[in-house]
Amino acid sequence: MIDKRRVVTRRSRRNGKASAANKAYQILVVNGPNLNLIGTREPDGYGKVTLDEIKKMMAGLARELGAELKFVQSNHEGELVDYIQGAKKDGIKGIIINPAAFTHTSVAIRDAVAAVELPTVEIHLSNIYAREEFRHKSLIAPVCAGQVAGFGGNSYLLGLRALVSILKS
Ligand code: DQA
Repeated sequence: MIDKRRVVTRRSRRNGKASAANKAYQILVVNGPNLNLIGTREPDGYGKVTLDEIKKMMAGLARELGAELKFVQSNHEGELVDYIQGAKKDGIKGIIINPAAFTHTSVAIRDAVAAVELPTVEIHLSNIYAREEFRHKSLIAPVCAGQVAGFGGNSYLLGLRALVSILKS
């Protein structure tokens, strides 16, 4: 069986053009508080998949789509703001963010996303609109290209596909 990716890479090299890997879109994946605990945290709501497993699944899909990921998690609002601010100077082309509980409270994270002017997709494992009322409002969504919520770990993969299609359009 022909490995199409290899053929493209060799052809690109022969023509002296940048290979698919060289042109990969750099994407920052930001995870907020308590997401380091998923897998064991409230598995009925968030599923049994761990953040590390999500990271691996995303990395595989990113390779297929011609993207490269920088994956971060923090329990601290200011640190999340620093990651978002840093994205522009790190050559990041788009952001995937699960702000977790800060979704519903953080003007600072919303302002950081608005400030960097990078296409951003908001992710939630759970369907926040089917949960407690305080989770129905996202302060971040209005400054994002869109939101994917309710598909467990798959929300991240769907969000990655959506972001790459924005970057390619
Ligand atoms: C969450 C939903 C938030 O309301 C909650 O605070 C989280 C996780 C989700 O991925 O479903 O920590 O962002």
